[in-house]
Amino acid sequence: MTSPKKATATAHPNIALVKYWGKRDEALILPHQSSLSVTLGPLSVTTTVEFREGPDEVELNGRVAEGSERSRVLHVLDVLRAGTPQGGAKVVSRGDFPASAGLASSAAGFAALAVAARAAAGLPRDPRAESILARLGSGSACRSVQGGVCIWRRGQAADGSDSFAEQLVDASFWPELRLVVAMVSREEKDVKSRDGMRLTEETSPYYLAWATDAELEVERASELIRRKDLEKLGELAERNAWRMHATALAADPPLCYLKPATLELILRLKEARRQGVPVWFTLDAGPNPVLLTDAAHEDAAVALARSCGAAEVVRCAPGGDARVVDAHLF
Ligand code: PMV
Repeated sequence: MTSPKKATATAHPNIALVKYWGKRDEALILPHQSSLSVTLGPLSVTTTVEFREGPDEVELNGRVAEGSERSRVLHVLDVLRAGTPQGGAKVVSRGDFPASAGLASSAAGFAALAVAARAAAGLPRDPRAESILARLGSGSACRSVQGGVCIWRRGQAADGSDSFAEQLVDASFWPELRLVVAMVSREEKDVKSRDGMRLTEETSPYYLAWATDAELEVERASELIRRKDLEKLGELAERNAWRMHATALAADPPLCYLKPATLELILRLKEARRQGVPVWFTLDAGPNPVLLTDAAHEDAAVALARSCGAAEVVRCAPGGDARVVDAHLF
């Protein structure tokens, strides 16, 4: 294929119901266990990549990227350029949701980067290759290349060639599913996922149990999604989040991502369920729960989040695949 040299792609973030927590290979970002997530529409990140003469330039959300942000973007491009030599790259990326929304914009950002960079290099669409490339920027990004529900299989190969995400069902499979992000705290977390997972793996005596259990939970979650069993899936998502946080709490020093408001909201869900509202939570490495419910109870879930002090609430539903778009950012 000939190279168009400039391409733009859009991707959605995702929320894991069975989390990825811990790497067996830090450089290649290979996980110890498989994970499963829902791609979140309507939130998105759009990235334009152009290969041309000159030094690499990276701009993220209106400012020049520096330090590890810049080097992670360039690492993804360098892996691509090692296979199909290109010139220097200009990358401009913009998200339509605030980084403070508590959702990692890096998953959507690296998925959009991988899709745009391959397209700019003249390569055909290939979800497996895009997922592997996105994974090198941020592990969870490999699950944002496709929409609906995706499973990141841990793989076995030392080079990571079998560690990528595949779609279980597309976004149209379960349109009534709702994911409500409850922003109960805007505080920056003190330990980033990357460092938190390393510390957990190295020092938590529960780590092996966590990884073994998560691998099995992916299979159970897949079956519950196929059956659209919200109640059982909600229960599974809650116990997986608790198990991840319990494993992290057992690290040395302990890692606690919960804030008092996190716990207050989580504990209120039981009462809401008793009153007939089907709502469960999941929680990434941060203080803001994501509530799982259905379209009919979305307003009730939003009201509950607000009553527990959520200053901002983001309503999401399963989103579609990352796609190449015509409108470039520069
Ligand atoms: O891909 P990273 O480095 O942002 O790590 C993601 C870790 C969790 O969000 C806590 C879990 C997950 O699977 O998304």
